[in-house]
Amino acid sequence: MPQQLARLLVVFAVFTGGLVVTRHLLIPKTFGQRGHYRAAAVTTIQVRPLRYAGREACADCHADIVGLHGKGRHQTVSCEVCHGPAAAHTLAPVENQLPAPRKRAYCPLCHGYDPSRPTGFPQIDPVSHNPMKPCITCHNPHQPEPPHVPEECGACHGEIARTKAVSRHALLPCTQCHNTPVQHKVDPRLLHPDKPRNREFCGQCHAKDAPSPREIPRIDLATHGGRYLCWQCHYPHMPEVD
Ligand code: HEC
Ligand code: HEC
Ligand code: HEC
Ligand code: HEC
Ligand code: HEC
Ligand code: HEC
Ligand code: HEC
Ligand code: HEC
Repeated sequence: MPQQLARLLVVFAVFTGGLVVTRHLLIPKTFGQRGHYRAAAVTTIQVRPLRYAGREACADCHADIVGLHGKGRHQTVSCEVCHGPAAAHTLAPVENQLPAPRKRAYCPLCHGYDPSRPTGFPQIDPVSHNPMKPCITCHNPHQPEPPHVPEECGACHGEIARTKAVSRHALLPCTQCHNTPVQHKVDPRLLHPDKPRNREFCGQCHAKDAPSPREIPRIDLATHGGRYLCWQCHYPHMPEVD
């Protein structure tokens, strides 16, 4: 017998030996009972504790949120994607509190601009999209459609309206600063809206002692910016200062 053939036979013998050992000793007993699958795995998995409850389980106690969520653009994002596994919470809600992702860094995990995402998926640039605040100040996480921005002027002043929509003045209506005669929208050249004329106008909200909501940033009207008009330094439709 040629030498090579003898070696080949040894290799062959080891290989079949291995197969036989694997077949009879290593393959689990219940393998193959239900196709290419270890039937006993079902029981093994069954005894593991349930961690997820599913959206329907939340409706018993949070009916309002489930209702809101079911109608909004996040309806395909299940509750437990954001709040984590909640089975224990549904059994004893007070003892098992769920976290809520309130921080700004969370939402861009899905919405931060990334060219590999499908076209049409709503994406934003987290650096420039309303940078100073958590997303949930403007978007309800359970129904995140962008807040209604007053846009009646946008038909003709589209660029200003779009600029303002992503600025810190987003929620101020145009008419807060421009008294607009109805006639202007019909025949714009006939009657012009007015424009703020002095520093005091901006001071209504931004002066130190102004009676406006506390979160509005304040300046000292007497000294800030010297004698210049505010909009010589701040574009009023996008007044960010960084
Ligand atoms: C048996 C009633 C019950 C069910 C079912 C239930 N919850 Fe709750 N949930 C509560 C109660 C009560 C609280 C308030 C607990 C507290 O403040 O001590 C709460 C609070 C929460 C909070 C608040 C966390 C925060 O930081 O304010 C979240 C989020 C929450 N539940 C999510 C869910 C989700 C998701 C489900 C479905 C998987 C669910 N809950 C099912 C009763 C329930
Ligand atoms: C996209 C992520 C996201 C999804 C999906 C989501 N939540 Fe929330 N949820 C949040 C965030 C963020 C907050 C904190 C809101 C705040 O503090 O204003 C919150 C707050 C809550 C609260 C407590 C505060 C409140 O508004 O009463 C409950 C209860 C809650 N969620 C339940 C649910 C349930 C039930 C679902 C599914 C029907 C769900 N959430 C789906 C992100 C999400
Ligand atoms: C797990 C991924 C995921 C997370 C996390 C998530 N979203 Fe969404 N978001 C989606 C999906 C999916 C849609 C629906 C897209 C569609 O309808 O094409 C959506 C839609 C939106 C829209 C609607 C855009 C439009 O043009 O109407 C806004 C706004 C939004 N999300 C804001 C948020 C905010 C704020 C958070 C954080 C609290 C958040 N999302 C967290 C997946 C996510
Ligand atoms: C100051 C309020 C404000 C904050 C804070 C804010 N947004 Fe928005 N967001 C808006 C407005 C207004 C629009 C609509 C803008 C438009 O139509 O051009 C919008 C639009 C969106 C859209 C839809 C974009 C599209 O192309 O359809 C997404 C997604 C979104 N925001 C996600 C976020 C996320 C994520 C955060 C936090 C990182 C966030 N927003 C923070 C006000 C805000
Ligand atoms: C039908 C289109 C149209 C609509 C709607 C419209 N505008 Fe105008 N607007 C114009 C045009 C055109 C001019 C330029 C007029 C000119 O140069 O004589 C103008 C000029 C202005 C000016 C500048 C006036 C000046 O003295 O420099 C302001 C401020 C203004 N519009 C504000 C508004 C506001 C606020 C709204 C919504 C309440 C609005 N406009 C709605 C077309 C429109
Ligand atoms: C916070 C106050 C404020 C708001 C809100 C505001 N404006 Fe103005 N706007 C001004 C000021 C101040 C000027 C004058 C700027 C100048 O003279 O350089 C101005 C100027 C204008 C002009 C003249 C052309 C220009 O760009 O200078 C137009 C048109 C205009 N605004 C339209 C609008 C529209 C449309 C909106 C709503 C989408 C709006 N404004 C919202 C303060 C505001
Ligand atoms: C009706 C109230 C109101 C008026 C009038 C107003 N603002 Fe504002 N301003 C706000 C609000 C609200 C914010 C956003 C605060 C926030 O994001 O928490 C803001 C933000 C700003 C910021 C951003 C500050 C920063 O830290 O980035 C500047 C700058 C600013 N305004 C300048 C002006 C100027 C200039 C005028 C006059 C043309 C003006 N504002 C008129 C309400 C007003
Ligand atoms: C000479 C240019 C100049 C003029 C004029 C000016 N500002 Fe400013 N403003 C700045 C600069 C630069 C900053 C950022 C540095 C700082 O905080 O002092 C700023 C910051 C601000 C802030 C943010 C403060 C904070 O704590 O976040 C507000 C609000 C503001 N200005 C409003 C106004 C108003 C209202 C007027 C008119 C009364 C005005 N500015 C006039 C240059 C100017």
